[in-house]
Amino acid sequence: RTTLRGDQVIVVSNREPYIHEKGPDGVIVKRPASGLVTAVEPVMRACSGTWIAHGSGSADHDVVDSNDRVMVPPGHDEYVLRRLWLTPEEEQGFYYGFSNEGLWPLCHVAHVRPVFREADWNRYREVNQRFADAVVAEAVVEDPVVLVQDYHFALLPAMIRKKLPRATILTFWHIPWPNPESFGICPWRREILEGMLGSTILGFHTRFHCKNFIETVDRYLEARIEHEHSTISFHDDDTLVESYPISIEWPSDREVATWAPVDVCRRNVRERFGYGPDHYIAVGVDRFDYTKGILERLHAVERLLEKHPKWVGRFSFIQVAAPSRSSLEEYRSFQDRIQQVTERINKRFGSEGYLPVHLLAEHHEHAALIELYRAAEICVVTSLHDGMNLVCKEFVAARDDELGVLILSRFAGAAREMPEALIVNPYHVEECADALEQGLAMPAAEQRERMASLRASVREFNVYRWAGRMLADGGRSRLRDRIQARL
Ligand code: G6P
Repeated sequence: RTTLRGDQVIVVSNREPYIHEKGPDGVIVKRPASGLVTAVEPVMRACSGTWIAHGSGSADHDVVDSNDRVMVPPGHDEYVLRRLWLTPEEEQGFYYGFSNEGLWPLCHVAHVRPVFREADWNRYREVNQRFADAVVAEAVVEDPVVLVQDYHFALLPAMIRKKLPRATILTFWHIPWPNPESFGICPWRREILEGMLGSTILGFHTRFHCKNFIETVDRYLEARIEHEHSTISFHDDDTLVESYPISIEWPSDREVATWAPVDVCRRNVRERFGYGPDHYIAVGVDRFDYTKGILERLHAVERLLEKHPKWVGRFSFIQVAAPSRSSLEEYRSFQDRIQQVTERINKRFGSEGYLPVHLLAEHHEHAALIELYRAAEICVVTSLHDGMNLVCKEFVAARDDELGVLILSRFAGAAREMPEALIVNPYHVEECADALEQGLAMPAAEQRERMASLRASVREFNVYRWAGRMLADGGRSRLRDRIQARL
């Protein structure tokens, strides 16, 4: 809070932190499945201000207050949520098209070809301009602190800079940044880089992504790069390119007190699926997305049962897969494929009252996920590529009994911070099957040792640390600007 005293804070993201929907007995408020929202929302509650987002999930405009503004969180009223409503054409071109068929596969190495259409690019530019105008309209001072979130808004920093030259613009890219060759296939690579360099600070999860970004700029723009300070000077503006590993809000004692004890969670979940108390369970929790390695995970479960028949009938894998971007063909066919593979494995190894794989393809609220995390022997995160991944951190935070095993992909940013997990290459089925076996057989003492260490690090490097470091770096840059203005 101290860093922000007196400063106006404006956050911009595509995804809204709360979804307001009309229910039979009034308005229902939901939380979307998004790592970005999980991380940024607690920060926004702490520093208040205005969060501008696309009102994508809240289809009913009239359930929010007038002027498209509503105070959130519901009942606590800590900051303003200002929604922008996009037309179906804008949503198609900006969100589905350029952001999710272009930039998303471009930045994630998951072997899905990016699609670039001129019309999508035009919508992307227009929508970025609409959000830039909204930021300017919200600004009550000439130097607000603007926190620009993610790949939906690569052009926004330069657009804001043009209208509010004294703003402190802190941009965070929540997904990986690829190497220059991969990024170079984007027809508008130059415009995107120039847009991002309107930022005062440009944050990525890892040093590796920063390095890729700096090399990309070096390859495609005439900019001055100071490697020693990790800054890029372009058109007389300096941008600090720095790594800020994102995290979660560590649950407070008050929240933990609302959780059912671990043995109750274990029993509830097993009863729900018709299993006895000794049944072993692994969970996966993801958006239903091709970058998450869900198929590879199913193959690993199948291989485990093939290699170690003693687990048939005694072990099940529960996959929560929150539907996401389902109007895109790539996502729909991926979801169908996962359904088919699940059915095939269940046919092969299932029996009366027993399924090796339970696929729950629906949105789950936070409390339901906590129960699952607390009930499971293993949590499996096998992303093919992931900026950070917060599911692994949420799992660890949920395990105050210090038991449970985390299997984590080496291609998730989190792998660098969580070496106590069983680190796997998701493309290597055999290795993942062995990790499952190792997790199922791991003695409690070893689980405790690993889990206690993981918990200590996530507790310390929590999301306030992430935001605090970025805001403190932004604060230093503001101070330098003020001193220079006086000279
Ligand atoms: C990733 C992105 C976020 C996005 C989230 C959910 O975490 O980095 O920007 O909000 O996925 O995706 P969606 O398209 O549903 O917002």
